[in-house]
Amino acid sequence: MNQTTRKYLSKLEDLFSFSPADAQGAAARFHEEMKRGLDGQTSSLRMLPSYVGRPTGAEQGRFLALDLGGTNLRVLAVRLDGRGKAEITAVNRLAVPETVMRGPGEALFDFLAEGVALFLEEHRLDPKDHRDLAFTFSFPVAQSAVNAGVLLNWTKGFTAAGVAGQNVVALLSEALRRKRIEEVSVTALVNDTVGTLATKSYADSSCDMGVILGTGTNACYPEKTGRLAKGGFPQPGKEMILNLEWGNFDKLVTNPYDEALDRITLNPGRQRMEKMVSGMYIGELVRLILLDMTDRGIMLDKKHRPVLAREHSVSSEQMSLSALGEDFFAAIGIPDVSDRDRDAAAHVCRIVSRRSARIAGAALAAVVTWMDAHLEKKHTIAIDGSLFEKYPGYPENMRCVLEEFFACRADRISLCTTSDGSGIGAAIIAAVASFGQEQKHKPALPRIRKNR
Ligand code: GLC
Repeated sequence: MNQTTRKYLSKLEDLFSFSPADAQGAAARFHEEMKRGLDGQTSSLRMLPSYVGRPTGAEQGRFLALDLGGTNLRVLAVRLDGRGKAEITAVNRLAVPETVMRGPGEALFDFLAEGVALFLEEHRLDPKDHRDLAFTFSFPVAQSAVNAGVLLNWTKGFTAAGVAGQNVVALLSEALRRKRIEEVSVTALVNDTVGTLATKSYADSSCDMGVILGTGTNACYPEKTGRLAKGGFPQPGKEMILNLEWGNFDKLVTNPYDEALDRITLNPGRQRMEKMVSGMYIGELVRLILLDMTDRGIMLDKKHRPVLAREHSVSSEQMSLSALGEDFFAAIGIPDVSDRDRDAAAHVCRIVSRRSARIAGAALAAVVTWMDAHLEKKHTIAIDGSLFEKYPGYPENMRCVLEEFFACRADRISLCTTSDGSGIGAAIIAAVASFGQEQKHKPALPRIRKNR
């Protein structure tokens, strides 16, 4: 590596550094925003009520789940045995075409209803046996009940017209009727974080936080209903899961690359933390840096510019390949790159992914200390998403921040990979919603095997 490259990378290290003091400062501002959100004041943390608490493990039944959170739609049939075991009995995956993500809202909801119709037909399921459908809709929604909520704004590249400001459960129900699916009703509307928390806590009552670190990033935790200013909640004195929408947290120090990225997104000014952390955006940060290095003549050649100038030509999956020592440039379609450039790109990926994990760690620490200031209890954090699961070193970088915050007490926090929250967890929430507490006293179904 020559001196110019070294100098550039060292400046980049500074721009992307997120020191222990930065993490402490961010957590303090996070608490201020949480408080403002809870008090009903303007805040970048929306603190959205889910209208459900955590499951008891006794919930049971058969449910349909429809999971829209990114570029894939999943339709699932889920069976809960009432003893903390859940099983997916059938699943279909469909890619959501860009024309559907960004077209008229009605076309998007028709696409979802069509997905349900095909699923029922293909798996020969009688809708009469699967009347309750849990809708995992992983976007910011202001819920007014467990099965009603208005989309506040789209995130993660969706822009389908005419949906923001509408009750998405009503839109889905109308689309199901248009497809003549009369028997099925949407009984729960669930954020993926809430589904993830529900999935883990169905079998483990120490779980008190759900986190997503994938295409987008977000978290939820159970809050005492008495602390919610918005009021009118059932069962005061109980808990309700709140969706933080932490991807929108906007009190972090940004650098010129963050600003450049924000300007080219479909939602400038919003989801500022998500744009520093999540899988959909960290590849873009790396791309902008490599483009800058190419333009300055620090790496590659001008002829490589068109690949790097194309939005989303670098993904977090390709970044993780470089962390595994594989050829990053070959993966993005630039062959025959020198070892020197490859090393420099690997360094850039490390810098960007490390900041992502450290910010996620600090946000997680902020939520844990909100619930338990002195870390007196054990906390199990259910985490889903490819960054946490697949990016080499990502969990370790997060843990490092927890150790900076809590020293040896950090081992009271377990970070647990929890897959399928947006399917299984949604069904659990539908069960919490439709059966409530009386199910505790019903006999459980025969024990079934978990099959994921
Ligand atoms: C985005 C959405 C949020 C979701 C997260 C993870 O941040 O706004 O609702 O939980 O992505 O999918």
